[in-house]
Amino acid sequence: MEAAATITPAVLILLGPPGAGKGTQARMLEAEFGLVQLSTGDLLRAAVAAGTEAGKAAKAVMEAGELVSDEIVIAILRDRLAEPDCAKGVILDGFPRTTIQAQALDQLLSETGQKISAAISLEVDDAEMVTRISGRYTCSMCGEGYHDTFKAPVIEGTCDKCGHAEFTRRADDNAETVASRLAAYHEQTAPLISYYQDHGVLKGLNAMGNIEEIAGNLKGIVSNAMN
Ligand code: AP5
Repeated sequence: MEAAATITPAVLILLGPPGAGKGTQARMLEAEFGLVQLSTGDLLRAAVAAGTEAGKAAKAVMEAGELVSDEIVIAILRDRLAEPDCAKGVILDGFPRTTIQAQALDQLLSETGQKISAAISLEVDDAEMVTRISGRYTCSMCGEGYHDTFKAPVIEGTCDKCGHAEFTRRADDNAETVASRLAAYHEQTAPLISYYQDHGVLKGLNAMGNIEEIAGNLKGIVSNAMN
């Protein structure tokens, strides 16, 4: 009798500058493929709101648009990855962002026998990112993301997903901080494109189209990577 094949949970990485659409696309992939979205930005904002030691250390750094220390981010991600729901497979949104984080992820995955299925680089112009970020808001109940111009709720003032009527804008979505976030991306995160190219898992994706069109192209890449 043949042994049953073991299915290794998928590990997808969404690489891209602030406003590239990582969160928007990750939530769509989550629904489509039954994976878990892990956003280090969301995990850090939750830590700031909860007033944990990590959150206290991260708050000012995030407000300045700089990167939180590798030590804090890796610890937060390691804890979250160990939670049972991540056994379904994960989409990493905003992690890794430095070479040290990428190496730490390789180490974590080698401990669990997992591999990176694909690192998908969302390619967007800097000017487009600023437009996207400056119009962004999210449902304060479920976190669904919207945009003043590109993605309004179907019923004005009501979240499509949960029906809530209050929305929030992020403290770091202002012109000054966006410039720092972009600089941090180009200096510290963009080198990961070569890192994953060298590891044979890089896929490029033009992320300048409309949201549904990009989602269709991304779905094709992910389907191939998971087979
Ligand atoms: P994080 O929360 O990860 O923010 P970010 O990387 O700056 O990315 P964003 O969430 O701004 O953008 P996104 O690509 O998800 O775009 P979205 O889908 O929302 O990080 C925040 C901070 O936390 C960092 O600055 C850092 O301090 C810290 N941090 C986080 N992770 C860290 C790490 N690993 N190491 C160190 N520090 C870390 O889309 C944006 C808007 O555009 C939305 O309104 C959306 O509706 C709209 N939109 C999306 N796609 C399209 C489209 N195709 N056309 C038109 N509009 C679109």
